[in-house]
Amino acid sequence: MLSDEERHEIEAELTRYPTRRAASIDAMRIVQRHRGWVSDEALRDLAPLIQMTVDELDGVASFYNMIFRRAVGRHVILVCNSVSCWMLGAGRLLDAAAAAAGAPQGGTSADRRFTLLPIVCLGACDHAPVLMVDGDLHHDVDPADAASLLARYE
Ligand code: FES
Repeated sequence: MLSDEERHEIEAELTRYPTRRAASIDAMRIVQRHRGWVSDEALRDLAPLIQMTVDELDGVASFYNMIFRRAVGRHVILVCNSVSCWMLGAGRLLDAAAAAAGAPQGGTSADRRFTLLPIVCLGACDHAPVLMVDGDLHHDVDPADAASLLARYE
């Protein structure tokens, strides 16, 4: 069930859009901000509020890769693996981040501190390789610095 706070925030967001379904991504982002991810149950609760079916909402969530449909760790590391970053060491950065985080690529560390996800272009190609932790963009990252960078995120 949506909390009163979630519902209040979503209703406020709905006033900014011409249709309820246009706010679907923002509504899911609100839920994710409160819970860390968007479960099947959350989609079922959101669907009538947004006037979409659960399948339609799931389709939007699947297309938009910043909506997490599985539980994630306390911190989410996104490592760009698009072409500019790949050419400048994204593979090594992914390996270094996985080792430092204790999380497999696409998975979560045993202590649930980190989830590590490869992702498409983060829009900072001229500063490749790039990774993002909880929305903080880190560019020109040397794989050798991955451990010290991640140590900032308890
Ligand atoms: S290719 Fe990595 S930020 Fe664009």
